[in-house]
Amino acid sequence: MFELIRRDGLARTGKLSTPHGILETPALLPVVNPKLSTVPPRELYDIFGFKAIITNSYIIRSDEKLKERALNEGLHQMLDYPSVIMTDSGTFQSHMYGEVEVKNEDIVNFQREIGSDIGTVLDIFTEPEWSEDKTSHAVDVTIDRTGEAAKLKGDMLLAGVVQGSIYQNLRENCAKRMALLDVDVHPIGGVVPLMEQYRFSDLVNVIISSKKGLDPSRPVHLFGAGHPMVFALAALLGCDMFDSASYAKFARTDRFMFPEGTAGLQDMKGLHCNCPACSGHSYDEITKMKPAERTALIARHNLWASKCEIERVKRAILEGDIWELAERRCRAHPALLSALRTLEKHKDFLEQYEPLSRDNSLLYTGIETLNRPSFLRYSKRFFSRYEYPASEALVVFEDSTGKPYHRYREGEINKISEKYDAHFMVHTPFGPVPIELDEIYPIAQSLFPDPEDMETKEYSRAQMEHMSHKHPYALTMMWDENSTLDALDMMCQETPKFDMDRARVKAVSDYQFGTGAGNAFLDGEVSIIKSKSTGKIRNVLLNGQHILSMRANDGFFTLRPEGAHILMKTFPAPKLRVVVNDDAIPFNREGKNVFCSFVEDCDKDIKLMDEIMVVDSSDNLIAIGRAMMIREEMLSFQTGIAVKVREGIK
Ligand code: GUN
Ligand code: ZN
Repeated sequence: MFELIRRDGLARTGKLSTPHGILETPALLPVVNPKLSTVPPRELYDIFGFKAIITNSYIIRSDEKLKERALNEGLHQMLDYPSVIMTDSGTFQSHMYGEVEVKNEDIVNFQREIGSDIGTVLDIFTEPEWSEDKTSHAVDVTIDRTGEAAKLKGDMLLAGVVQGSIYQNLRENCAKRMALLDVDVHPIGGVVPLMEQYRFSDLVNVIISSKKGLDPSRPVHLFGAGHPMVFALAALLGCDMFDSASYAKFARTDRFMFPEGTAGLQDMKGLHCNCPACSGHSYDEITKMKPAERTALIARHNLWASKCEIERVKRAILEGDIWELAERRCRAHPALLSALRTLEKHKDFLEQYEPLSRDNSLLYTGIETLNRPSFLRYSKRFFSRYEYPASEALVVFEDSTGKPYHRYREGEINKISEKYDAHFMVHTPFGPVPIELDEIYPIAQSLFPDPEDMETKEYSRAQMEHMSHKHPYALTMMWDENSTLDALDMMCQETPKFDMDRARVKAVSDYQFGTGAGNAFLDGEVSIIKSKSTGKIRNVLLNGQHILSMRANDGFFTLRPEGAHILMKTFPAPKLRVVVNDDAIPFNREGKNVFCSFVEDCDKDIKLMDEIMVVDSSDNLIAIGRAMMIREEMLSFQTGIAVKVREGIK
């Protein structure tokens, strides 16, 4: 069973239950060669702290002595490793050396008999140069074998490998069929040649097409991904597990691995590394070591570098900056930068997993940042949900400060809105931002370089162009004091003021909950209570009832029960609802969180971190809270929190 702990888009941290305890993900499993262990498994556990390793059952079974020992003592004792052991099946040997002499049934039974925690099917390694027909046939055989293995797995977890070469349709189809089988972990296979050839764009397409078909409640392993350079990107796309033989392979040819790439000993001018393996050694000393001793040292360096990067990735997922980390890592090599740019093609898919807000600010790292799903999310919601006030003029501020915050323009806005019926927009890298949306994530929680930066300006112009076709009055004016005032004099009668607070309540509500929410919340006697120190909206009352509070950190509303009732009247089910079964109702009414196993159904448009209503099957309000998953995750996970409940309705 796999439990989701924390999510950021497709990236996630989780806990996989195995016969040898819980494996926290993302996890790197060092490859242990049962015949030649470069670093002893005991050391991998005790010193490095690797909680899982992977070894090869085919190599063990092909060696009479090892086979006997494994069957008699069990794998864990034979390798002297006390934690999770995954085994591979011999497929990789067929990729390297041609046919293997073993049947799927026999190798799966063998893995179970020797006590593997996670065994692997004898899948067919689909090579990148294969024709679509040949690949499609190999996928069929892999699926048949996985079905056969599922019947034999016993207590062992089973890895069902997604194959399909570089054919995205075959990958997605294979993944969909895999998802229907009784399998526990999904490696993405056949990708080693892509990584060896630095075909990282192909790798991105392969991972995403596989993810599209898979069941989100199962962990995904990227088979053969052992270079720290790719961990951040692969984790960003939803890979939970990795395995590395590279640490030893690279060491045998005197190559040091770093998150920024690989360095050959002969090209290095010195040893500038403080990892536990390198510390205390000098460059000269290492070059003079006997080859076996040097290999052992470099292998350990490579393991530290990999371990450190996995921890870095985990931290980024928890803290909400995995996009920044992946973008920075993808500058390690132009082929990785191409891979990052390939994400543009997949942004609609990525946007489905994009949270409403994050704890961390969005930091621009380069032009590729503009393809992040945060940008698409903003423009989708803005263009579909924002209602233009019926003003006569639209004043557009050129973004000269790099910040759209209305407080920077307060003087200008007051001056104009005291006299004219106008409303206000700012050019930003997100596109046009109405001034009353300037405090929501990611508009306010983002940092860009100097606004003279052409890259972002061009983008903003294109968005603005799009917008001006939609504005009912189609008048846009760049802010330039005199000419703007002259133009306003000519076109506006002297009419009302722009009410910033009401405009904000309306625009944020529509953006967050859907068009119509804002008018519903303002339909009556409204009082808007603001913080004395920051001047920001804190609470909204309607007819004396507290309906909404505004969060200072991301500018969105949290719902109060009266606010939830208004939304339920405004939007018919299933919008913004999570339906729970009867067993859960008393707990949720008490304010306890909603666990996945109790979710009956859910609005398909709910996004991560959205404010939602928990209801029973007759659409009675049970609780209000925040969605921690999207619909397909709530319905497929067996454990984990689906909704963080803020308040139960008694
Ligand atoms: N190791 C690296 N790639 C693969 C693969 O595609 N299948 C299996 N079973 N093992 C691998
Ligand atoms: Zn080192």
